[in-house]
Amino acid sequence: MTKPTQHPAWHALQKLHEKNKDVTLAALFAQEPARAQRMTVTACGLEADFSRSTITPDVMESLLALAKAQGVETLREKMMTGEKINVTEGRAVLHTALRAQGDAPIMVDGSDVMPVIRALQVKMENFTVAVRDGAWLGATGQKITDVVNIGIGGSDLGPRFVVSALRAQASGPRVHFVANVDAFDLLNVVENLNPATTLFVVVSKTFTTQETLLNATSARAWLVSALGEAAVARHFVAVSTNQQAAAFFGIKADNMFALWDWVGGRYSLWSAVGLSIALAVGWPAFKDLLAGAAAMDTHFRTAPLASNMPVLFGLTGLWNRNFCGAEAEAILPYSERLRELPRFLQQLNMESNGKSVTRGGEAVDYQTGPVIFGECGSVGQHSFHQWLHQGTGRVAAEFIGVRHDDRNRPDHALILHAHMMAQVEALKSGRVADDPARTNAGNKPATVLWLERLDPYHLGALVALYEHKVFVQGSLWDINSFDQFGVELGKALASEILAKA
Ligand code: F6P
Repeated sequence: MTKPTQHPAWHALQKLHEKNKDVTLAALFAQEPARAQRMTVTACGLEADFSRSTITPDVMESLLALAKAQGVETLREKMMTGEKINVTEGRAVLHTALRAQGDAPIMVDGSDVMPVIRALQVKMENFTVAVRDGAWLGATGQKITDVVNIGIGGSDLGPRFVVSALRAQASGPRVHFVANVDAFDLLNVVENLNPATTLFVVVSKTFTTQETLLNATSARAWLVSALGEAAVARHFVAVSTNQQAAAFFGIKADNMFALWDWVGGRYSLWSAVGLSIALAVGWPAFKDLLAGAAAMDTHFRTAPLASNMPVLFGLTGLWNRNFCGAEAEAILPYSERLRELPRFLQQLNMESNGKSVTRGGEAVDYQTGPVIFGECGSVGQHSFHQWLHQGTGRVAAEFIGVRHDDRNRPDHALILHAHMMAQVEALKSGRVADDPARTNAGNKPATVLWLERLDPYHLGALVALYEHKVFVQGSLWDINSFDQFGVELGKALASEILAKA
């Protein structure tokens, strides 16, 4: 792999941008009324309209040529077959294996990972069923009513997002999340809980993360002060690759759920990191989540590039970022249940593609991952959308709607969808008024995604779509999307500061 700027396709894109820079979205739609239909792709119950960026057929041809030249397909195959594509850490990247539907072997270091995944899933299922049915009881013999997930980053944001998106379907214990080392986060959760009916799930891939360990220690003290030391075994379980450190913390071997170094934190909700999801919605729903993601994996792996949703999503983002100057992507879910999506995507995208050296260690001379921010519609309309419409920055907006939402009322859904499509239209066409202060320039790029329904299957497909979009872009930029060394310096400095405190 080489820098994308070294390929003729990149230069062709620069020339096309120069040539077409005055062509507006409104003009492209006027020239071709069926543009949206032509540029809409469907897969796994998701629909994505990529027509609202200034991508003409010759631009698309060059973008696809760039994807070929950058070896997106080869790298995709390497990822899905367990090659160590996380080059800086010498690790495979196998979140797709966690949701694989068959038992076809996937080899890492000469051994098949599928049997260990299946064994872990049996353990997760048994535990989930036992807690939800009341076979697993707290130390005083009471049923678990509340689960507290203690973790941060990838050990928090994925489960937090999925649990909040599926809360309406949740039938098990209430699930809470504690991430911040500010004790208010933990105290605010436990002040309303009964220790006798509370289960803590401590999630830390490394089991060395200071914030999580301190929160877990304080939670343990809260439990022990009410129920005594012996209660810990019935009220604490851990998810980690570091079983030794979890044992040192006092977690019994039976209460540990394994994780492997080939699962990146921000790609880990499909593993035992998703235990709190399974506890909230039940094992069959968790399996549907995996099935939806697996369906998107199959689509990503087999669909031709020109009709491949994650590939087109990644290429559209690259066009807007590298050629049209969009420095940010706004994630705008028009669904209250997808409220946590922007936060989840912030880590997924910015920790993965916030890089400035290539996979070979050379400094890049082009932009990589954009700023990700967002808010639920229509709430965000009354906050930062003004900036989207009339600010001086350039942002690519991503709208996400739910076509048939059985948790919304038809009269509310009508208005919600009208607001979403109004924003989409305003960004595209704008409106010229006599008064410049009242003029919306329009011609702002957007992508519109629709989920057929908001259930575990479609949610799984949505998350996998975004994971693969990030992967496609990392491949195009020739960066390693799977390490995060940038955050280490802050951790080291915090330790130095603490040592002097
Ligand atoms: O500091 C960043 C990070 O390493 C993330 O990548 C990760 O998701 C988070 O910290 C939590 O790490 P752990 O699961 O090991 O506690």
